[in-house]
Amino acid sequence: MSSQAGIGPRGGHESGRPAAVRSWADYRREFPVFERATYLNSCSLGALGTRVRDAVSRFLDLWSAWGAAAWHGPWWEEMEALRASIARLLGASPTDVALHPSITAALSSVAGCFDYRTRSRVVVADIDFPTVAYQWLARRTRGVEVVFVHSPDGLGVPLEEFERAIDERTQLVATSHVYFQSGEVQDIGALARLAHARGAYLLVDAYQSVGQLPVDVRGADVDFLVTGGLKWLLGGPGIAYLYARRDLHPQLHPTTAGWFAHRDQFAFDVTHLEYADDARRLQGGTPSVAALYAGRAGLDYVHEIGPQRIRDRQVELTQALVAGLRDLRLRPRVRAGTQVPAGIVTVPVPHPESAVQALREERTIIDARPGVIRISPYFYNTDEDLEQALAVLRRHLG
Ligand SMILES: Cc1ncc(COP(=O)(O)O)c(C=O)c1O
Repeated sequence: MSSQAGIGPRGGHESGRPAAVRSWADYRREFPVFERATYLNSCSLGALGTRVRDAVSRFLDLWSAWGAAAWHGPWWEEMEALRASIARLLGASPTDVALHPSITAALSSVAGCFDYRTRSRVVVADIDFPTVAYQWLARRTRGVEVVFVHSPDGLGVPLEEFERAIDERTQLVATSHVYFQSGEVQDIGALARLAHARGAYLLVDAYQSVGQLPVDVRGADVDFLVTGGLKWLLGGPGIAYLYARRDLHPQLHPTTAGWFAHRDQFAFDVTHLEYADDARRLQGGTPSVAALYAGRAGLDYVHEIGPQRIRDRQVELTQALVAGLRDLRLRPRVRAGTQVPAGIVTVPVPHPESAVQALREERTIIDARPGVIRISPYFYNTDEDLEQALAVLRRHLG
């Protein structure tokens, strides 16, 4: 493992300074949404923190003051600092990370790297977020075959299902770390072992995990991992992160290419595409600079608190929520007797949209998915937030 400038100890403060331990109430005060609402929908969109707003203001100030000259210095440095920050959170090096505007864009750059003539199959779970499967369904006419492993209960997929589906025709297993409909956490280390034992690669969609629980890409030995700012990393829309294992870099020749993937992008050599040596070869075009600023400021919260401390709090909140829902005689979709799911709890109710609307009228923000409501706490939530949501639900469901 090479030590790269800017990589500090994992879980420390972004600046490298030891942070004084701040209380959950201190952090909550940095999220103005709580002045007017009870926000319980972080798995859709993390709440806006004041640090993120300030960072975007800094971007605007630089744009206003310098125009394109802001690239020569602050904007470029911000991009590299962001790469270092997400790499540190994942246990990787900055050179292992590519930046993208969405998970879809990141997935599609990976999907364009394989020769499907040798191995045509991609294994996806039928409870993964649809955009994962779409990357390879869109390549069906080029000979790619998508094999769906079935979740028997809509909560998770037993490892044996994956084991049955992966064989010598499998190019890649592409599946979630945390399932977006159930919050269930998959053992990605075990999945990597299964995939590698049959000569296949593993890509993990970690959009619903990184931030709310510790993730160590090297420890888990995953080949590719995608995540982004939108949800648990508190950076809002427009920024996604793609990790690619270092020893794979020389073999990766994505079919989606952009000048930010070129080894020497400012040579403007139009006749030769030479990919960057590192994971930047997976990038596309000019990033949304506002999203870079927002992304890094969002990550600052997660570094400062530490993902394990966040996970511990998430376990408390999720357990309290599940117990409260059961007290209302509802049936939260949680597997009995196993590990506490990540901070996503779904509950079947007769008319999910009208329940969401009833809560919204009482300034309580949750979400609906087909047949269920979805409640999603994060470290800035309190037990009172949960009680508020449960009280409205009790009145609404009568
Ligand atoms: C697990 C997961 N993957 C992917 C996505 C979609 O990502 P994008 O819209 O950036 O392609 C979502 C939801 O937003 C998600 O929950």
